[in-house]
Amino acid sequence: MRHQQHPDIWQQLQTHLGEWVIQSKAQAPKGHVATYIPELANASEDSLSICVMDGSGATVTAGETDCLFTLQSISKVFTLMLALIDHGEAVVFSKVGMEPTGDDFNSMLKLELVEPGIPFNPLINAGAIAISSLIGGDTPEKQIERALAFFRDIADNPSLAINQAVFKSESDTAHRNRSLAYFLKDNGVLDGEVDDILRVYFSHCSIEVSCKDLARMALVLAYDGVDPIRNKRLIPRRYVQIAKTFMITCGMYNASGEFAMNVGLPAKSGVSGGILTIVPGRYGIGVVGPALNRKGNSTAGVHLLETLSREFDWSLF
Ligand code: DON
Repeated sequence: MRHQQHPDIWQQLQTHLGEWVIQSKAQAPKGHVATYIPELANASEDSLSICVMDGSGATVTAGETDCLFTLQSISKVFTLMLALIDHGEAVVFSKVGMEPTGDDFNSMLKLELVEPGIPFNPLINAGAIAISSLIGGDTPEKQIERALAFFRDIADNPSLAINQAVFKSESDTAHRNRSLAYFLKDNGVLDGEVDDILRVYFSHCSIEVSCKDLARMALVLAYDGVDPIRNKRLIPRRYVQIAKTFMITCGMYNASGEFAMNVGLPAKSGVSGGILTIVPGRYGIGVVGPALNRKGNSTAGVHLLETLSREFDWSLF
């Protein structure tokens, strides 16, 4: 497919992306792979890859782009939109707030400190667990099926699947998420059984993708819910607007301010090292570099996105 828009940027990406990836890889040793989900510790700590996709589906890639990784927290952006599709804004925002926390992604601090005891936003673990409970389906199996079908449609990839080893590894060790979920249950935020809701949550976190899948999913957000390749609306515009706003304010957790300052694009990270980013109206970008900084974001991935944003003046601000 031929790239039409901004041919200068495309050409520069083709020329320089490989060298920028090599430069950013130097940041990987400053971070470490996540080990609290034991299966994630098997990822290659020094790898970094990226796929940039334009509205025609043309891509520029660099790094180890055939490696697969699980979505982890990146899935939360999409389950939020699915919960909005299934229940609407009034119900969703009766269960989660709209504000960043400034705390770590798995913190339970504010659940007790601030009334009414609902998670501050849908992208921290507590908020995403509440959102998982709102995915349509009268059994956890049906909710998981519905979520998987939604991800497959957005990625335009019917083979997307749950990595069962990662699912089991998280499920066997998720003491903190269990505590958060029981706390939410006690606060009246969760309808249904904690174990069932967590099964849905661990399942969407364990969906396995490539960098290209991530860029393809990002592209739908970059075009406000329309897949520009199939020319088909997949998500209502208002729900993408909500998701993008959260990506700016909470997408990189308690480093969202710094990321907004240095990159200035809506993004969402996950503990497997993935980062989904968009250049609105232009590109979907998927990055993965498994070594994380203390706040749970890919050290090399953030550095690479800072480079791209600076080179192409992509900041929205
Ligand atoms: O619940 C967890 O801890 C993981 N399944 C997802 C956390 C995550 O990706 C946070 N991201 N930086």
